Amino acid sequence: MADLREVLDTAAPNVACLIAEPVQGVGGFAMPPDGLYAAYKEVLDEHGILFVSDEVQTGWGRTGTSFFGIGNHGVTPDAMTFAKGLGNGFAVGGVVARGDLMDGLTALGVATFGGNPVSMAAAGATLDHVLENDLQGNALRQGATVVEGCARCASSPACGTCAARA
Ligand SMILES: Cc1ncc(COP(=O)(O)O)c(C=O)c1O
Repeated sequence: MADLREVLDTAAPNVACLIAEPVQGVGGFAMPPDGLYAAYKEVLDEHGILFVSDEVQTGWGRTGTSFFGIGNHGVTPDAMTFAKGLGNGFAVGGVVARGDLMDGLTALGVATFGGNPVSMAAAGATLDHVLENDLQGNALRQGATVVEGCARCASSPACGTCAARA
């Protein structure tokens, strides 16, 4: 936390928000240590900086243990962004945020393709499928199988790093 405080107090005094993935995805599928984001949130709140959870890869139950990945960190973000998986292939993205932040957007539309009815129908159908078939529960079960399999190969010289949460 000392590092974050120092950066905010010196090199980056005018930060609007911190955007973080609950599980770092394309950057290496790294998990932040337990408690890190909660501690960040405390420091960010002191500075009036928003915490934005990028749920592109972790939203809609895919971590198995929380419908949104940030729930695994015990943090309530100021905003969440999401995309891709929500449309199951259809181009769709979105943001949800604290009411006062959303109320700050006075324009009727902020995106050329925003609210595209076909994408919205695809997103609605995908979400229905996720919920009706308990895909979050399935992710939890499949995750356990993968973790078990990884643990078995971890001792093999062919296996590099085997990182997962049990
Ligand atoms: C976690 C995460 N955030 C944001 C993005 C960016 O999405 P886009 O390619 O639509 O900018 C991606 C893309 O894969 C992603 O995985």
